[in-house]
Amino acid sequence: MPVILLTGGAGYIATHTAICLLEAGFEVLALDNFSNSQPQALERVGQICGRQVPLVKADIRDEAALERVFSEHQISAVVHFAGLKAVGESTEQPLAYYDNNVAGTVTLCRVMARHGVKQLVFSSSATVYGDARQMPIREDAPRSATNPYGQSKLMLEYILADLQASDPAWRIAVLRYFNPVGAHPSGLIGENPNGVPNNLMPFISQVAVGKRAQLAVFGDDYATADGTGVRDYIHVMDLASGHLKALQYLQQQPGLVAVNLGTGRGYSVLEMIKAFSDINQVAVPYQIVARRPGDIAECYADPSLALELFGWKAERGLEDMVRDAWRWQQQNPDGYCS
Ligand code: NAD
Ligand code: WQD
Repeated sequence: MPVILLTGGAGYIATHTAICLLEAGFEVLALDNFSNSQPQALERVGQICGRQVPLVKADIRDEAALERVFSEHQISAVVHFAGLKAVGESTEQPLAYYDNNVAGTVTLCRVMARHGVKQLVFSSSATVYGDARQMPIREDAPRSATNPYGQSKLMLEYILADLQASDPAWRIAVLRYFNPVGAHPSGLIGENPNGVPNNLMPFISQVAVGKRAQLAVFGDDYATADGTGVRDYIHVMDLASGHLKALQYLQQQPGLVAVNLGTGRGYSVLEMIKAFSDINQVAVPYQIVARRPGDIAECYADPSLALELFGWKAERGLEDMVRDAWRWQQQNPDGYCS
């Protein structure tokens, strides 16, 4: 039975995707170096699905380790999540980001090619649109990056396009995620950031559960309806099903596609706080502070290409996002160590 390799398989988006793939009848193999995750996350996936996910501890930059994995398993496609993703950290440690994200992906692709595995789903990001001028953002919008993390994703988009152009046997889906939030409805798996969360939703959850005193809202003087930043938050289970659809698409279609995974609907920071506290009946104290450097006013997708090519659209709304994020947080106040 052919196996789908999930790099970064113990991470936030990969664990949710593993559930979708297992439920659709795929065999999966997870590979992770646990630089930002724990193996317990995959044990929880096993609990949810009734069977354990095989797991290899390895780094995607370790070519010999990848060689062994591809020799020992009948891998048919790779969903490549492994990467570092903290924007602020990337400006302090650019080489770590280029090494891990860019060099790691090059190594992975080299081993894939050697083993004739040429189907790849790649985790890109709406960050490749930089400060987009037109909303909603279509896939053919100009791309740019404002930090090393974003640069690494942009470089990889170019590298993968060159790779596919050099050998049409490659089938590649570049998925540009907007803002993934929420958790599996069981509350058993979810987002588990190390230290102080960089992203809005985990910060709100940690304030609500009492781990942090209040949320700092980064600016209320943007050119948006209420002055706070607007983003396209997408439920992580919708994002997960987008990966399933992308894999099924690649089984039918050659070439490279770059596709937005978003809902097409933006919400402001204040709308997110209000939804979280109203729906979950919990207080989220906050204070307006200065803008965060590098932030943009708004960012939301035109998700029509995903519907056209994959037959995919987001099904879950804001209520599901905040309810599921809260269930995970409450059941696991200390993440997978709870
Ligand atoms: P995550 O940190 O939870 O998952 C990434 C996983 O990759 C972690 O388990 C980490 O330990 C692993 N990893 C990192 N470097 C590795 C290496 N060299 N070898 C092996 N494993 C390695 O992050 P996530 O939110 O699940 O993100 C998954 C992917 O999606 C990343 O590539 C990220 O850049 C991209 N993405 C995430 C978001 C987001 O907001 N979460 C948005 C857009 C794109
Ligand atoms: C959302 C909104 C903040 C935290 C980042 C990366 C991007 C992508 C997703 C991977 C903004 C505001 C946030 C807080 C706040 N990652 N905010 N107080 O900035 O859209 O995107 O994560 O590819 O590359 O840049 O997401 O969740 O950090 O912020 O007011 O404590 O919430 O200003 O308007 P962002 P975010």
